[in-house]
Parts: sequence; C-alpha cells; structure tokens
Amino acid sequence: MIKVNENYSKLNDSYLFFKIAEKVNNYQKNHPEKDIIKLGIGDVTRALPKVCIEAFHRGVDDMAEDSTFHGYGPSSGYDFLREKIALEDFKKRGIEISADEIFVSDGSKCDTGNTQELFADDISIAIPDPVYPVYLDTNVMAGRTGDFKDGRYDGVVYMDCTKENNFMPEIPDKPVDLIYLCFPNNPAGTTITKVDLEKWVEYARDTKALILYDAAYEAFIRDDEIPRSIFEIKGAEKVAVEFRSLSKTAGFTGTRCAYTIIPKQCMVFDNTGAKISVQKLWNRRQSTKFNGVSYPVQRAAEAVFSDEGKAQTKELISYYLGNAAIIRNALESLGFECAGGEHSPYIWVDGKGKESWDFFDMLLDKAQVVCTPGAGFGRCGEGYIRISAFNSREKVEQAISRIKEALK
Ligand code: MLT
Repeated sequence: MIKVNENYSKLNDSYLFFKIAEKVNNYQKNHPEKDIIKLGIGDVTRALPKVCIEAFHRGVDDMAEDSTFHGYGPSSGYDFLREKIALEDFKKRGIEISADEIFVSDGSKCDTGNTQELFADDISIAIPDPVYPVYLDTNVMAGRTGDFKDGRYDGVVYMDCTKENNFMPEIPDKPVDLIYLCFPNNPAGTTITKVDLEKWVEYARDTKALILYDAAYEAFIRDDEIPRSIFEIKGAEKVAVEFRSLSKTAGFTGTRCAYTIIPKQCMVFDNTGAKISVQKLWNRRQSTKFNGVSYPVQRAAEAVFSDEGKAQTKELISYYLGNAAIIRNALESLGFECAGGEHSPYIWVDGKGKESWDFFDMLLDKAQVVCTPGAGFGRCGEGYIRISAFNSREKVEQAISRIKEALK
C-alpha cells in the first residue's frame, strides 16, 4: 500500500500565495466587471531590461545553429555567469567570493526550500515570525516539526519580530542548529545593521550553527552603511549560505534565475563531529536533482552585470522604490503605522486592531486592491497587512485613491 508523507497533514491547507490567488480568482468570477489591482505577491510587472532581452535573443539564436547550440549545461551554472556574479556582486565590493562558490538556479524559493535537505532530521531550527512561508513549510514537510497548535508548530524556535523589537529577530536563548534570516526582510521590509549581523555570525561560530541568509531583496538597499551580503561580515564564510535572486532585482520572476553562495569554508558536522563541506553536499544534491538553468536565460542573466545592465536594473528598482514611498506615505497619512518601503519593496502596515484576513477581505471588497494578510507569515503577523510596490505607478496611485476612499 502506498502511504502518504504524514508531515503534509501538518501543513496549512494551501500555500499562502496560492490561497490568496484562489480568493482573488473567486472574487473576480463573482464580480467580472471589477478591475482588481494586485499588490499582494511580490511579482514584478515591468518588462525585462532591454540589455537582458537582447542577450536573451542572442542566446536563443545560439540554440538555432549546431555550432553554437547548448545541450545540458553544468548544474551549478555556466562559468560566464558565475564569474560575472563573483566579480560584480562580491569582488568589486571587497568581498572574497569566487565563481566556484556561486551556484546558479531557477529561483531562491527552490534553493531556500531545498537546502534543508542537507541537514539531519533532528536539528533545531530558528525561524523569525513573521517569515516568508517557504522556510517553515519545507521543514514541516521534512518532518522537523511537531503538530500545528495555536498558530505555531511544536519544536520550532520562533523568533518573534514585533513592533517592540523593530521587527528584528533576537538571538535565541536556547541552542539552535539552523537559523533563517532575511534582509531586507520579507515581509516587514526592515534591514539589519553590520553590528547586529556581526552578532549573528559570532553566535553561529560559537555554537557551530549555520545561517541561511536570504538576500533576495539586497538590490533595494540604497544606503552603503547597510550590509547587502552576510559575507561583508568577517568569518561569515564559515557559517553562512546566502541566497540571491534576479526575480526582483531584474524582473526575472517569470524568466527564472537566482544564485546561492556557498563558501568553500562553510561546514556542517557528522555524528563524529567531523567537518563536512556544505558546498560538496549541495553539489551532490544539485547534480542529482537539477539540470541547470537554460542557456538563453543565463545569457540574459549575464547581461544584468554589464554596465548597461546595472544602470537599467537600478532604474527598474528606483521605480518600484518610488511606488513604495507613495504607498508608505499614503498609509501613514491615513494614520497607519508602517515599517519597510525604504530599502524594500514591501510596506508592513499595522491594521489598527483589525485582523489581517479581515483587512485583506475589506480591501478586496471595497477597493478591489489585493494585499497580503500578515497572519499568513506567522502568528506575529496577525493584525498586519503587507503591501507590495510591484505594479505600475498608475496602478499604485489608483490603488491608493481607492484605499483612501474605502477607509473613509
Ligand atoms: C512574496 O511575495 O513574498 C514573494 O514574491 C514570494 C516569492 O518570491 O516566492
């Protein structure tokens, strides 16, 4: 008899953004005349940068000739892309990361979800609350948690991120083995200082823990004092893995290209306490389960790191940051306390006592604006909504005037 993975029964019925999409589709079916504005899932709306499109086309043309055709590529990415990333994202910023420490993939969602596979079943995990749901759900699937009770899984060390601590996870007061951090934060939009990040690295080094650092939104940081990479911190190369993505940086949500940085020195331990290279484990996993990102997509990704590409992506991000400023200012002028929206495309709005799914329903019903209910990111997200800046300026302005009207 084929048996189910019982861990799946512990999960919420559907993945957060899937549930939202269903609700929105139902609403649209019942109100076909309504024009819905989506500021929910962080999905970009503007076209790929021109320089990426040109490179993409050239990549497709290469596939049309036997002499330039590409079959299976390396599972960790072509050297032309890995070398560009190492140079532009790290070496030029004074960070020692080499091309063979960069692993190209089809998304940070997959990478953040898949990495947990490399670790023992009985490790303890520390996860911020609220948090991007993938970190937690994939550990639930793997059986690393107990049952779900009162909005929490047994066995998980939750790091509460509330207004009182400026939505910053605090170092756990009990030992943990695996720590998830995300900066600029999804969903709260907050950033971390170098001093605070140093404390995490020191903690991980002292306790032989590993940090999974999600930097998918690093390109939104517009202040040189704020770290864009955990590898700006000395010693992090021994205790951290970093995830980066071109989804929000360069509009690749539909094109798919991300990369994970695993330094050679990053180690985990076996039962005898012997060191095992995380890079070696990841290589083993990826070469078994993944055949790489398509060649034309990697050519388009390579173009992001050219001078023109850097200028075009900066313009793209400035546009979304402009939207974020409009949203935050408008919500604050309506008397809502907000976090994020400055070095982040997300604005985290305190709903003034309203439950977050009620706030979501009200905005959909009265303003036809989709947001993300904070409770979907964890128990501490209850009472908040997240508004995304990913849409056209025109739609954002329209959404704001509808929200103002709805909240009158
Ligand atoms: C989000 O809205 O939190 C993200 O877009 C989801 C994702 O990147 O998978």
